[in-house]
Amino acid sequence: MITKKLFDQYDGKDIYAYTISDGIEVTVCTLGATVLAIKVPNSSDEMTDVVLGMTNARDVIEKGDYMGAVVGRCANRIANGRFTLNGVEYFLAQNNGNAHLHGGIVGFNQKVFDASVDGNALTLTAISPDGEEGYSGNLTLTVRYTVHDSTLKIEYFAQSDKDTLFNPTNHAYFNLNGENDGSILDNYLQLNASHYLQIDKDLIPTTRCPVDGTPFDFRTLKPIGRDIGQDDPQLDIAGGYDHNFCLTAHHAALAYSPKTDIVMNVFTDMKGVQLYTGNFLSGNVGKSKYGKRSGFCLETQFYPNAINRDDCDKPILKAGEKFYSRTLFSFLCKKLNIG
Ligand code: BGC
Repeated sequence: MITKKLFDQYDGKDIYAYTISDGIEVTVCTLGATVLAIKVPNSSDEMTDVVLGMTNARDVIEKGDYMGAVVGRCANRIANGRFTLNGVEYFLAQNNGNAHLHGGIVGFNQKVFDASVDGNALTLTAISPDGEEGYSGNLTLTVRYTVHDSTLKIEYFAQSDKDTLFNPTNHAYFNLNGENDGSILDNYLQLNASHYLQIDKDLIPTTRCPVDGTPFDFRTLKPIGRDIGQDDPQLDIAGGYDHNFCLTAHHAALAYSPKTDIVMNVFTDMKGVQLYTGNFLSGNVGKSKYGKRSGFCLETQFYPNAINRDDCDKPILKAGEKFYSRTLFSFLCKKLNIG
């Protein structure tokens, strides 16, 4: 079932919030195709809202730290905002030090999407014009959110009329204890990744390193907070986890809260996932007050700065070609044996 409500107004336009229900209740608004809430049944037979979110359009844009939004054209950082494609050097907006981050100053997270509904699927479409933020090509993005049997499927469809880069993701911050809990350090996490990308002081990935024997080893389920305080130069740079993990399976991650017994499984066709533990959060706005480490993100994507790397697929979208990618967030309530 899908219901529709007026959420707010932005840029002279009405912004609607749609709630899609089938086991879980997912609320998405047309500004930034932003996920505002995901309510999941917990072990007390109540609903727990497991994502951080804002309550009005202005805060979504100005104070939301991309919470729940679709980001792009290119998620994550591109070093110095520069890359070369077909022998042409492109200069993107530098909105994070020297780097280009999450699509630049006006990314898809700030666009008002057109919406249509079909059964339990909400389809949202927006356009990024040729040259926006320095990217080539008129690019049309369609994001389809489908909820079925407690699973949220996010599908990305895109097309451009010139060769360009494209690497979208969703930037939801999760706390399986509930969005108002304040800390994700006792959420458990398992990642199917035996390597991660180290970062330089500007948080640009450098070397691909084995997780073995490091705080980045999430191959077996452990609390996010178990190793986050270790004396490790990589954790120091980012103030916690803010790193890309190199996935070895479509089943990217499992997260679990012993407080609610909510389990989340993440599946994706992407090769990378950015684990970000909300190290820079300091907001006083939103459904609750969100401080440092009150949410964690699992942003599925091509490796960050992939266009400037030689060891991975590059997010090049050729003129006229159809881009497709999907990520699923699947929920259940089950007590796990965490030893
Ligand atoms: C990045 C963080 C950044 C945050 C912005 C994350 O995807 O990895 O470094 O601060 O987005 O909200």
